[in-house]
Amino acid sequence: MSEKLLEMINEQMNFELQSAYEYKAMQIYADDEEFEGFAHWFGHQVMEEIEHAEKMTKFLQEVGFKPVYKAMEAPNTEFTDLLDVTKKALDHEKEVTRRIHEIAKAAREEGDERVISFIQWFVDEQVEEEDTFGKLITRLERINGNYGGLYILDGQLAHRG
Ligand SMILES: [Fe+2]
Repeated sequence: MSEKLLEMINEQMNFELQSAYEYKAMQIYADDEEFEGFAHWFGHQVMEEIEHAEKMTKFLQEVGFKPVYKAMEAPNTEFTDLLDVTKKALDHEKEVTRRIHEIAKAAREEGDERVISFIQWFVDEQVEEEDTFGKLITRLERINGNYGGLYILDGQLAHRG
């Protein structure tokens, strides 16, 4: 197992935590705007990203690599509305997908079966993540800023468990 591959996973582990940080800022924004359902939903997203980082930490430890935590960037806190938040979330997920695919490609090039198998879960997970945000964007575009629609959607998002 190459050092380069392990460092890429370590880098991604840090980026998953960065993702949690970005979603935390989105949660705070939704909460400030009194959209409790969106805030709950983004709070759930924060926990998922921490779990992703934990999966990578565990894998690195299992193969004998000491995980290294790096400084995080301050998350974006500039949002115009919920559609803007969701579009920025999708952009972020696309960047995550790009990085995951780079790891998968490097693992295949090195013929590293353990990393190929490990990273496949994340490849699949990213399909789901992008689809989830894509659907939310479609719904918000249809609602088109109408408060009645926004509150119905907010009520539905409150039930994410
Ligand atoms: Fe993630």
